Amino acid sequence: MRIDVLTLFPELFETFKRTSIIKRGIDRKIIDIHIKNIRDYSLDKHKKTDDYPYGGGPGMIMTPQPIYDCYQDIEKVSSNPPCIYLTPQGNIFNQEMAMELSKYPQIIFLCGHYEGIDERIIQNIVTHEISIGDYVLTGGELPAMVMIDCISRLLPGMLGNSNSCREDSISSGLLEFPQYTRPYDFLGKKVPDILLSGDHKKIEKWRKFQALLKTKKRRPDLFYKYSLSEEEKKILEE
Ligand code: ADE
Repeated sequence: MRIDVLTLFPELFETFKRTSIIKRGIDRKIIDIHIKNIRDYSLDKHKKTDDYPYGGGPGMIMTPQPIYDCYQDIEKVSSNPPCIYLTPQGNIFNQEMAMELSKYPQIIFLCGHYEGIDERIIQNIVTHEISIGDYVLTGGELPAMVMIDCISRLLPGMLGNSNSCREDSISSGLLEFPQYTRPYDFLGKKVPDILLSGDHKKIEKWRKFQALLKTKKRRPDLFYKYSLSEEEKKILEE
């Protein structure tokens, strides 16, 4: 997948591209991330990229010309790739959207700053307006990284074990069961005996019970959307 990011702060992406699973995905040529500096495209003699809002009001608005020219300069590897504008006004991002977006060969991310961008950019090039949650950040760079991280890990070959993706919490509809590793005793708290029993059927049942319980307590919204199988109903009744 080719990913293009249009931003005023390209340096924010440097560590992101050079670290952990994203780096491995780039090295394995599963993802190809191109960061473009919107300011490089400003035709203003001071390389300005923002201006006062028509009609008055606080803050500055990103001007359309540098964004539009930057967008036009992107190498398109598919026709009409999604162009995502990160904004608190957007639809809230979730795992289902990530799965949908992971099918495209190219995605373009447009990171906003200040009080937003000129509406004509949204009308002309933006295909999706997306928010990562009901809180306001200083810009769209962190949200773009959140989305890139989430979408990338769904691509074939990105994670060592493809099960770790399939059994994800959320995409299964439930939160994850608790996990333990060595040592057996940590700060006086021991690993539940069942996990040492070697009885895989019982372990699976225990994990399902823990996942159901945690989801019901912490995320009743997910729990009541989840359709329980007959076996899961039995597990809860026991
Ligand atoms: N820009 C500022 N806040 C944001 C948010 N919550 N999601 C996406 N983009 C943003």
